[in-house]
Amino acid sequence: MNQEPRVRLVTPGARTLKTLWQLGHADPYWPIPDCSQDGMARWVNTWRAASLCGWGGLWTAWYNRQVIGMVTLSRVEPALLGNLEGVWEGGTFLLPAQRGRGLNLPVKQAMLRRAFASRQARWLVLAISADNLRALAALTRLPWPWQREDGTGPFARLQRYKSWQTGKPMVVFALARAHWLATDDMQH
Ligand SMILES: CC(C)(COP(=O)(O)OP(=O)(O)OC[C@H]1O[C@@H](n2cnc3c(N)ncnc32)[C@H](O)[C@@H]1OP(=O)(O)O)[C@@H](O)C(=O)NCCC(=O)NCCS
Repeated sequence: MNQEPRVRLVTPGARTLKTLWQLGHADPYWPIPDCSQDGMARWVNTWRAASLCGWGGLWTAWYNRQVIGMVTLSRVEPALLGNLEGVWEGGTFLLPAQRGRGLNLPVKQAMLRRAFASRQARWLVLAISADNLRALAALTRLPWPWQREDGTGPFARLQRYKSWQTGKPMVVFALARAHWLATDDMQH
């Protein structure tokens, strides 16, 4: 996996956020409910506050000196989990023009490194809408042993919560830090 292109995660600056908004806000998968530029500014501010509190973070993803998308990480509220601790949720948005280029893998690598190396997360979960077939297919191409929550496992409550929150059936995948350490050589 060392041959993969390297993606950098960077704290967003105003110019980059404007570029992302210009190139991304009309996309059906734009992650911000209020698609206006002000809506993005408010959304970014909530992530800044979360970052100050240690609950989460938002980064822009860069490849070849170009901004290609965004990555978020947020601590999952313990009440949504059984006995598990240290669970973080990741989110990825690649700009439409950057999809289908094999960049999901290095973006996810950068996200996992950020979660597991810097934040001491024990689990990283991804919640994907059941009708987002592209994202589900992309996940199957990633080389880590994701566990899919089947509705009876440790992430069942989280899955029900995400489905309620988004108003759509959601699929939850979880990766344990121990499994990532065993399979990923990028952290060395
Ligand atoms: C989900 C998402 C991150 C996946 O990224 P992606 O670029 O679509 O997925 P991949 O990196 O696996 O690339 C998939 C395509 O690139 C092709 N590809 C893979 N490696 C490649 C490479 N090295 N060079 C060129 N093409 C490549 C694959 O053949 C595949 O093509 P296909 O879709 O025609 O079968 C992206 O689609 C996205 O941001 N979607 C909107 C937001 C979203 O849905 N997020 C999910 C919730 S977290």
